[in-house]
Amino acid sequence: MKHDLFHSVSFAIAAACALAITATANAAAGDATANTASASTDAAQVARGAYLAKAADCAGCHTAAPRVAHPGAAPVATPPFAGGLGIGSPFGTIYTSNITPDPQYGIGRYSYDDFARAVREGIAPGGKRLYPAMPYPSFAKITDDDMHALYAYFMHGVQPVAVPAPPTRLPFPFNQRWVLMFWDWVFAPKSQFKADPKRDAQWNRGAYLVQSLGHCGACHTPRGPGYEERGYDGSASAYLTGGTNDHWFAANLTGDEGSGLGRSSATDIVAFLRNGHGDGLIPFGSMVQVVEDSTQYLNDDDLAAIAAYLKSLPPRAPSGYFNARSSAAQQTVQALKTGDVERPGAGIYASYCARCHQMDGAGVPQKYPRLAGNPAVLSASSVSLVRLLVEGGSSPHTESGPKPRKMPSFAGKLTDTEMARVLTFVRNTWGNTARPVTRNDVSSVRDALHK
Ligand code: HEC
Ligand code: HEC
Ligand code: HEC
Repeated sequence: MKHDLFHSVSFAIAAACALAITATANAAAGDATANTASASTDAAQVARGAYLAKAADCAGCHTAAPRVAHPGAAPVATPPFAGGLGIGSPFGTIYTSNITPDPQYGIGRYSYDDFARAVREGIAPGGKRLYPAMPYPSFAKITDDDMHALYAYFMHGVQPVAVPAPPTRLPFPFNQRWVLMFWDWVFAPKSQFKADPKRDAQWNRGAYLVQSLGHCGACHTPRGPGYEERGYDGSASAYLTGGTNDHWFAANLTGDEGSGLGRSSATDIVAFLRNGHGDGLIPFGSMVQVVEDSTQYLNDDDLAAIAAYLKSLPPRAPSGYFNARSSAAQQTVQALKTGDVERPGAGIYASYCARCHQMDGAGVPQKYPRLAGNPAVLSASSVSLVRLLVEGGSSPHTESGPKPRKMPSFAGKLTDTEMARVLTFVRNTWGNTARPVTRNDVSSVRDALHK
């Protein structure tokens, strides 16, 4: 009895202290050194904001590419968040802003409301409308708590950089930012995330991360005629069914068994997002940066929540097909090994690809991705596959995953016809079945890339 009373009294004192600390923290907002209690409350909020900024990949877009002083020199990293990365859009290149707390060139003079409005509604102070290359249609769903933590981080956890970001100059009429007002009216969602009471906490956490901070739909949802994403949650049938941005096709993340995540387990998806290696699948194209800058840093609970949410998406936009046990698959592997394959593309595969991806298309665990049953290989669009073949690539560099491996560029080695043949072969061997790739598919991507 006495013991209990003692406990409730000490609990009451602790609670009162906590309230007092919060009160001083609020009173002293902006002056983190006012006293140690508020300093540590602020430090915790700044740390949480730093984590949320990783989940949202603010640095990925708001940091310029490493600078190379002269050809052959080692690339030098640019300061984080100082802006200047050029983002390709169908209307021209849009440069990201300096979002360090520098008062002149950055966002140092932003109030909390200015910040929340820019991030959620795409309206900077003074009424400047932002292009939706800044994913504010997704960020609209960020909760107030998270927005406060992000603001605390950008004001107190980021180094100011006094360098202006290059101006964005789009051709008329796209340089008329006020027109975006109509775009926002029609297309941009305005409400914060609402939890679905019929689902559990893990599902809701995953849905929140994917739909708001992670802005996965910015790449994975197809866009409509106004460049708008065709839906921002599972109520839209096109949501996360795959989209093309900047000549990378971001795969279908619904439960489709061919080109979607139907055959991937939640554990594989977590490994893919954490180490860049999940059951023989390796991120490539614009997904490499997402894993390197963002998802590898998410904690286990958050990654598991994302995977659980993705696995809950019903199969949509089916494409491609995989049958691991087809007898034709075994025959092809035999024929590749003995060298008597008549099919176009088989010879190219054996000479240029098999040393890494293997004759049976199974790849090498922790080194080279498997191509057999790989959903990205079976995708409706072959744009990513062509771009990868033309430019080559490198698997992600992560803290916990194996070291990065390179896929060479075949731009100087294979003609458009040969690329089409080898990709058609890869998409229709070892039990894979997907639409053939034509020479025209290849040349149109190469023309667009000028490569
Ligand atoms: C996919 C790329 C992308 C991501 C991710 C992104 N931004 Fe942006 N952001 C942009 C682009 C592009 C602009 C400039 C748009 C323009 O000029 O109209 C911009 C502009 C802004 C501005 C307006 C600054 C000004 O006054 O011009 C703020 C503030 C901002 N971003 C904050 C953030 C924060 C905070 C995050 C992370 C939560 C973030 N951004 C993530 C692309 C991105
Ligand atoms: C900047 C564009 C971009 C963003 C943002 C993005 N992705 Fe991707 N993603 C891609 C591309 C391109 C691919 C296809 C290449 C590959 O398989 O890695 C891909 C592939 C994937 C795959 C593998 C699919 C498969 O079947 O092979 C998963 C899983 C995935 N993304 C999850 C996510 C999640 C979760 C998010 C949000 C946290 C996200 N992506 C955000 C571009 C993006
Ligand atoms: C030197 C080893 C090597 C060779 C040779 C090679 N690749 Fe790759 N390939 C890789 C690596 C490493 C990746 C992962 C690239 C990335 O993450 O950007 C990859 C990725 C791929 C992918 C995407 C699959 C995924 O899940 O990441 C396809 C498709 C592919 N290669 C096809 C080919 C074809 C076709 C050839 C022959 C013309 C070929 N590769 C030759 C190493 C190789």
